[in-house]
Amino acid sequence: MADDIKRGIWSRRDFFTRLGWGCFGIFTGFSLLAFIRSAFPRVLFQPPATFKAGFPSDYAVGEVSEKYKQEQRVWIVREEEGIYAIFAKCTHLGCTPRWLAAENKFKCPCHGSGFYKSGLNFEGPAPRPLDRLKVAVGEDGQLVVDKSKILRMEAAGEPDDQHPESIVKV
Ligand code: FES
Repeated sequence: MADDIKRGIWSRRDFFTRLGWGCFGIFTGFSLLAFIRSAFPRVLFQPPATFKAGFPSDYAVGEVSEKYKQEQRVWIVREEEGIYAIFAKCTHLGCTPRWLAAENKFKCPCHGSGFYKSGLNFEGPAPRPLDRLKVAVGEDGQLVVDKSKILRMEAAGEPDDQHPESIVKV
């Protein structure tokens, strides 16, 4: 009885025992949460770099197709020599130009740069032609545009001459 009065409600040993179990419980809880979280890794889902752009016969010679501009930011252009894909990103500050069929040119709405159908810059502040993307004909005969393969155009020179491989013969 005298011992109980001396020790109070909790003895020192009880206190440290409970503190130890408390710490162990918290540690175990966090470890469990971390384990559960690891089952759901943070994955960044990005759209695939390539897309199918239909059959070559879907495009008329002389046409600039805007079919994939909204979704993929790409124009498909068919000329006598073949088909090429232009990346719809202005080489000035990155706005998306518009295709003006009546004027046969691409025009950037931001600062007025103009580009011929080949992508060659001819007016405004854009320092170089529009870039092209790698195009190939897939096994099923459809065009495959690879957006991860940008054919960068330099300031001087016709795009066709800078990157003749950008034109797929069909
Ligand atoms: S972003 Fe196209 S002209 Fe400036």
